[in-house]
Amino acid sequence: MEVIIKPNYEELSKYAAEIISRQIQEKPNSVLGLATGSTPEGLYKEIVRMRKEKALDFSKIVTFNLDEYYGLAIDSKQSYACFMHENLFKHININQENAHIPDGKIPLQEIENYCRQYENKIKENRGIDLQILGIGIDGHIGFNEPGSSLYSRTRLVVLDKTTIDTNWEKFFKKDGIAKENASSFAITMGIGTIFEAGRILLMASGKSKADIVAKFIEGPVTSQVPASFLQLHPNVSVILDEDAASKLQRYEHYKYSMGERKKLERK
Ligand code: PGA
Repeated sequence: MEVIIKPNYEELSKYAAEIISRQIQEKPNSVLGLATGSTPEGLYKEIVRMRKEKALDFSKIVTFNLDEYYGLAIDSKQSYACFMHENLFKHININQENAHIPDGKIPLQEIENYCRQYENKIKENRGIDLQILGIGIDGHIGFNEPGSSLYSRTRLVVLDKTTIDTNWEKFFKKDGIAKENASSFAITMGIGTIFEAGRILLMASGKSKADIVAKFIEGPVTSQVPASFLQLHPNVSVILDEDAASKLQRYEHYKYSMGERKKLERK
């Protein structure tokens, strides 16, 4: 696992955007796995800037989002479909048919079949080249809450109370939605699904993430901290700002190795 520490959120976002831009230039029909939440907002802003200033071309890009709340009204402002449209899709030249997000309004009896089809669509596109991830304070990736299996696939899940509370504070409260009306279910890619991506980029920012960042990078691999499974994936980059990295025991080592790598690249 490669650990990169950037001075602040802005630098972290720029660094992640550079990786995506390179990916798109090297493979214009890349398949990207996308995430929502407050963490990737800066990344999407950067990508939109690259689209405007450098004409970064998304015309052949295919995307699959990690997750969606289950049961939200289709035009709901809190839906991840709406988040993606507002923060990214409406600003870039992606073919809307190539932008996939789980449908949170699928009838309950059809979900299993629908989730299988979502996975099949990823396979038909020859898999995800680059998967973006955030991390919840409980260690979830996508909406794979503690206890999720390494082999879990796309499915309907019940959200943990900490996740409901955190997301209500960040995304529902400002629109006047009572906590009891915030979504408590979601459709999410599984950890097994995420694991099939060629490369994974996890971003974490801020002091509130410092404890879980130290746990998932330096602690044991356990389903109680789903992000810790990433220790087993062969191609993971974790991009942190100083605050999120502040509780890593090997903080100095990571800073040192970043410097050494730069020296090597300059040679
Ligand atoms: P955040 O959420 O980016 O809003 O902190 C991350 C997550 O829950 O995966």
